[in-house]
Amino acid sequence: MSEKLWGGRFSTGTDSLVEEFSASIAVDRRLYAQDILGSMAHARMLGRVGVLTPEEVATIVSGLGEVRSEIEAGRMVFRPALEDIHMHIESRLTELVGEVGKKLHTARSRNDQVATDLRLYAREALDDLRGAVGRLQEVFIDLAEREADTVMPGFTHMQVAQPVSFGHHCLAYVEMLHRDSQRLADARTRVNVLPLGAAALAGTTFPIDRWDVARQLGFAAIAENSLDAVSDRDFVMEILADLAILAVHLSRLAEELILWMSPPFAFIDLPDSFCTGSSIMPQKKNPDVAELVRGKSGRVIGDLVALLVLMKGQPLAYNRDNQEDKEGFFDALDSVRASVEILARMLPGLTVRREAMRVQAEKGFATATDLADYLVRKGLPFRDAHAVVGRAVRLAQERAMALEAMPLTELQALSPLIGEDVYAVLTLEGSLNARRHPGGTAPETVRAAATRARDRLHREQA
Ligand code: ARG
Repeated sequence: MSEKLWGGRFSTGTDSLVEEFSASIAVDRRLYAQDILGSMAHARMLGRVGVLTPEEVATIVSGLGEVRSEIEAGRMVFRPALEDIHMHIESRLTELVGEVGKKLHTARSRNDQVATDLRLYAREALDDLRGAVGRLQEVFIDLAEREADTVMPGFTHMQVAQPVSFGHHCLAYVEMLHRDSQRLADARTRVNVLPLGAAALAGTTFPIDRWDVARQLGFAAIAENSLDAVSDRDFVMEILADLAILAVHLSRLAEELILWMSPPFAFIDLPDSFCTGSSIMPQKKNPDVAELVRGKSGRVIGDLVALLVLMKGQPLAYNRDNQEDKEGFFDALDSVRASVEILARMLPGLTVRREAMRVQAEKGFATATDLADYLVRKGLPFRDAHAVVGRAVRLAQERAMALEAMPLTELQALSPLIGEDVYAVLTLEGSLNARRHPGGTAPETVRAAATRARDRLHREQA
């Protein structure tokens, strides 16, 4: 005879290798609090519909509370033979409260149970992550306000393109994070649906009240279809996709920090407390935190792909394959959560080397487009203006001078439309200030954008 909770029809025990192979307790023990909450709600509902007596409910609920205290005190013994967190809690409950513990699993299955636990966990994790993303946005908004007047070279193709405000660059990340946060909030609406009541796949013969359970657990809806309820992992796929996008955003940021800190750029410095040294090269100060953030995006993308492949080709309804959904889910949540958190702690200590940024912007003919625009305002078609400025840049390059250092007579030789007023256009500040439209990089516009971003964030948090 098997000692398993499901062992009735089995004549022998499970091969020890099978136990080890199929156990998920090492991963799903994380769901203990959600599992207990779900069980309490289920038991209370069974009491209200008359399947359990009030005394039985009281015993089960207080027993579950005791199991929770044991787990939280580290007194629970986890054994692979008990497979997963659901069986651990149920069997410990029965040890503690006796026979009545065995009634808890009436009208449910581990299939709807695990789906419920995972949704409860996901809902909390999403709220927590959105809070952290909001704090990172706030850090960038602060930086944007502080550095609105800081001029840096903006790049396309990694070549100096046009000058931008460093604050404007910071606000680009605020927008990315804002969309990430919206995606997570949107995913939450599809997470917040109760599977319990689907039982194994076909529902149950007991007169359950699913809305009672939904209300107790704060779910906004109940799953409409029992087969779908136990087999759906869309909500995990969706969150993983959102996390992968967020991780990619953080990775791009990390890459920029790494580049900017490298001596040929020397645009920024990161606090010593967030960098590490080399065991052989005494001069080194390495941006390991940024490198790890960049690296973690690889695992998160991998977690998404692993789940997509796991679900692909699974027939309805529940299959044990689904047990493999959690490790990657937790890994992605942990990786992204930790990355967001550490960036939010590191970035307030960012040193911005304004002079180095300016020097690079000046070197790269960053205001060439401004000169072309100037000629257009004087009546030249843009294509012709582009050609004139191209020649001006070539000339300046030959002389190793900046555009704004070229004598007026030389510029006028390229186009008689050029006048004394050209020099205001060629300065970095002139270039920035000329872009005052919404979404532009003029410092004044950046400050206004930062204020709007802060208001938006606070509205969302309210
Ligand atoms: N540990 C399982 C999982 O995570 C729980 C559901 C098991 N259901 C079953 N019929 N074996 O998916």
